Amino acid sequence: MTAITDIAAVGTWVRDARAIAVLSGAGMSAESGVPTFRDAQTGLWAKFRPEELATEAAFRADPRRVWDWYASRREMMKDVHPNAGHHAIAAFQQRHPGRLTLITQNVDGLHQAAGSVGTLALHGNLFEDIWLDPCMGAPGHGGVCDVSRALPGRPPTCADCSNALRPGVVWFGEMLPAVALAAAEDAAQACDLMLVVGTSGAVYPAAGLAHTARQSGARVVVINPEPTELDSVAHALVRATAAVAMPALLGG
Ligand code: OAD
Repeated sequence: MTAITDIAAVGTWVRDARAIAVLSGAGMSAESGVPTFRDAQTGLWAKFRPEELATEAAFRADPRRVWDWYASRREMMKDVHPNAGHHAIAAFQQRHPGRLTLITQNVDGLHQAAGSVGTLALHGNLFEDIWLDPCMGAPGHGGVCDVSRALPGRPPTCADCSNALRPGVVWFGEMLPAVALAAAEDAAQACDLMLVVGTSGAVYPAAGLAHTARQSGARVVVINPEPTELDSVAHALVRATAAVAMPALLGG
């Protein structure tokens, strides 16, 4: 049974750690006003079924509906800001270059906005557009079509080859970005402390990084006000929110 631990005890592990990996999820941004996915009342997946919105099949079946959903999330996130938890991670990285690797499942860009360096964004970027189908270039154009020149629409489409834009997030059933995933796996293997913050631990391969860290000999700490699917992997559980716990652990 994993013990529920107070923040001060984990703080000594942070001070002793040579290499720290942070694995963050949607709860990291909850105090910035971004809804999580699986919280029973407020989570995005409490209102929508993932397979209706977050798969390639859903987009192909009803591109406008899926495009509009992501557009509404972009709109909602335009005015959100990093919270004290994001800032604490970024400030720690600046004070201790190379000592903390940040791995996130979040697509909201708030870690990057806080100034985190080298963020490994395993699930992509909500604000980036990519082509739905691999772009072969339009006949006679001799090159890949430029996403910024897509014609406005829901979704925007390419004037030259009719390809559609889609959000640059990883959908269910898709591969994670290979370079970021490999770097995250390296960090999970090399760290001596992993802080798992604001994630239910329900989605793999991201959640598997906590298992990798534990199997590689690292201490694993889950920081979350609620129980998670990774609690049994952890050496310690901190039952606090991200914006409270991360400054307390890493310095404000
Ligand atoms: P979930 O919605 O599954 O889990 C959010 C977690 O945050 C829950 O465990 C909450 O208890 C916790 N939480 C809520 N408020 C918090 C706070 N203030 N501080 C700390 N924790 C808090 O979100 P993820 O685990 O990120 O995938 O979900 C993983 C993936 O599933 C997402 O990246 C997304 C989703 O489908 C893709 O879009 C590919």
